[in-house]
Amino acid sequence: MSAAREHFGSRIGFILAAAGSAVGIGNLVSFPVAATKSGGGAFLLVYALFVFFICLPVMMAELALGRRTDKDPVGAYRQLSGGSRLWRIPGWFALITPFMIAVFYMVVTVWVLGYLVEIFKGNLTSLTTEAYFGEFINSKTVFVYLIALMLIINGVLSLGVRDGIERAAKTLMPMLFVMLVALVVFVLTRENAIIGVKYYLIPDFAKLSGEVVSKAMAQAFFSLSLGMGIMITYGSYMKKRDSIPGSAKAVALTDTLVAFTAGLLILPSIFHFNPQIDTATLSDSSAGMIFLFLPKIFLSLQDSIGYFGASIFAAAFFFLVFVAALTSLVSIIEVPIATLRDERGMSRKKAIYAVAAVQFVLAVCCAMSFGMADWLTQFITLAGSDKSFFDLVEILFYDTILPLNGLLVCIFVIYKWKRANFDKELQEGDKGFAGSLSQKYVNFSLGTFIPAILLLVFINTVMLKFFNTSLFNLI
Ligand code: PFF
Repeated sequence: MSAAREHFGSRIGFILAAAGSAVGIGNLVSFPVAATKSGGGAFLLVYALFVFFICLPVMMAELALGRRTDKDPVGAYRQLSGGSRLWRIPGWFALITPFMIAVFYMVVTVWVLGYLVEIFKGNLTSLTTEAYFGEFINSKTVFVYLIALMLIINGVLSLGVRDGIERAAKTLMPMLFVMLVALVVFVLTRENAIIGVKYYLIPDFAKLSGEVVSKAMAQAFFSLSLGMGIMITYGSYMKKRDSIPGSAKAVALTDTLVAFTAGLLILPSIFHFNPQIDTATLSDSSAGMIFLFLPKIFLSLQDSIGYFGASIFAAAFFFLVFVAALTSLVSIIEVPIATLRDERGMSRKKAIYAVAAVQFVLAVCCAMSFGMADWLTQFITLAGSDKSFFDLVEILFYDTILPLNGLLVCIFVIYKWKRANFDKELQEGDKGFAGSLSQKYVNFSLGTFIPAILLLVFINTVMLKFFNTSLFNLI
């Protein structure tokens, strides 16, 4: 057991670190693309409702679990369940899920880093050729970047909660906000940018379907870093005198604002590139957008600001995505590290080495599953189609287990740990919470419709990913 638990130094330090976790590739790319394809303002509205009415209470529940116990997810479930064997399972899920999500997310971040370096070398044009992406991800340099990325992440983590995680967030997050706003301001001055803004903001309610609503829910859940044990772990580094509801609201608001602002960057850029673009043709996958489409858009800026200007813009964007992904990875890798320290009594250094060694092997397997190794490329057949090792990790842990973890948190907090204990923890450090509308809403929703919605999302995902059908086909 670690003697005295480290805590974040200040409330703002916690908020920036948690926002650093929440703001990631999901905000900067997946969200704008999903909004574009799914009804613009109508999607934004549904998304915002999910963030504040469904996800925010789950975030409070995760933070409360961590802060009450001062433990990692495995320890938190064990302690509050009074040693029940059954309730240990969600604790293990909340450990394995971040461990595996980190693996596939690291691979995508490595590609971002590789593209960033190429742009710095003056090679923006080559990134826009069709074959480049395939060649790059199958080149040996990917492993060099993987080592570099792991050194950076684990370097931050080795400095601990306050001097590593918090300090990195305090430096990087304000920089990210400023850069994002600067890029938006620049893009809005481009020709046809306003068409993109209108497309983004004007609601098209006809596009809202059951699928879209389910997608908005999954996106909101992922974006707030829920179901990954991160908020439980970060909750355990929170001080008792800080308000959980207040801090959670600040994190959710920051995350949503960043996602919204990213749309004001991506959409005008796309419409500046081609004002007649058919948005249905845009790739659904973030990787498709980042690596195949966006470099072309950035290169097209050379007509107005020259090749050097376009390269600077592209580099700034890739740097932004890299920083966002880095702070997310730091948070997610802290989960298994905290578990090894709390549960096995390992030193931070030893835990870092142990986690990094296993993650490196798995990340190499993911990176090799795009053609380098056939058995990893065609790893398994799911719902009638071949899936790579990378796909499998993403489908299992990101798509499927995430909503299940959320569901288990709600049920555990309200029915096992008990509503009254949870409520007491939320009041700690927040005098105004008792008797507030927020208190009534959180206590009621977490025991009723929030787990019900998460259950539906979970069932729908299992049907979709494993059986090629959907709940909406049954209606
Ligand atoms: N909120 C993050 C995002 O939107 O990208 C989710 C996340 C992913 C957090 C991967 C941490 C992580 F390692």
